[in-house]
Amino acid sequence: MKLDEFLRLNAPEDLASLASAIAKASIDVWDSVPFKTGLLSETNPSGETQKAIDVFSNDVFVDALTSTGLVAEVASEEMAEPAASKGSVSVAMDPLDGSSNVETNNPIGSIFGFYSSKLPAPGRDLLGALYVTYGTMVTLTFSFGKGVHRFVAVREGGSMPFQLMGVNLKLPEKPEVYGFGGRRSEWISQVAAFWESLEGRGLRNRYCGTFVGDYNQVLARGGIFSYPALAKNPRGKLRVLYECAPMAYINEQAGGYASDGSGNILDIQPGGLADTSPLYIGSSELVHELEKNISTA
Ligand code: F6P
Ligand code: MN
Repeated sequence: MKLDEFLRLNAPEDLASLASAIAKASIDVWDSVPFKTGLLSETNPSGETQKAIDVFSNDVFVDALTSTGLVAEVASEEMAEPAASKGSVSVAMDPLDGSSNVETNNPIGSIFGFYSSKLPAPGRDLLGALYVTYGTMVTLTFSFGKGVHRFVAVREGGSMPFQLMGVNLKLPEKPEVYGFGGRRSEWISQVAAFWESLEGRGLRNRYCGTFVGDYNQVLARGGIFSYPALAKNPRGKLRVLYECAPMAYINEQAGGYASDGSGNILDIQPGGLADTSPLYIGSSELVHELEKNISTA
């Protein structure tokens, strides 16, 4: 089944249109990757150096989303202020997650959260979320509150429409993989101790350095991804609005749990657009166990 037909049957009309616009734009972004690898001198609002591809993908997705006439605002990791528009859905996005992995050809991705209220808003206000992987395959994985579904881009003449790959994706019962970002020496001690225990429980360490890629394998294999609290930076690295909450929403729909170390990621009310949070996400039992270790220490 093609994406648009599936969305027509299974998603609210406005969210279906937004997902469809993102699908088309994601192919433009992907097509442009080899041509946009020069560094720009500017930095994004979080202080990371922007690459031409970051700026390009930001602009492609802002245009695609605002031209539907359905979004109230688009907030992006790459913009200090949201782009205002006329509709009712607020979109928060990380237009190119893991862009430092472009040169090495590790997977990269795009993340979108569709909120019912003005941003910054808590994950509980999400109407849906979607992420794109540009990896071995270009896939769209999304939930609009009724399970997690996946589509893959396939060449058909001159275009690349998305075909259904899987419905109602769930995290497997038996967890198999783990991937933790940052430096081990900088993690809070409870995280280091938990990480240390995982190999002995039969899990394998698999880390690619792109949140979308690292989470995507957790969804497929079961396990845990974390960008933890650091001893010197208790609020971690990943952005609540653009990264943590949309993925936590999808993960919850897939039967998992996502925590900031003290509670559900979806309950965080970010004070600012670029607020960060520690993130522990994946198989419910593992994440609850680590949350308990952290919060009772
Ligand atoms: O968006 C930030 C990001 O690129 C994530 O995709 C990834 O999980 C993280 O940074 C990797 O950080 P580090 O290189 O510190 O492990
Ligand atoms: Mn990112």
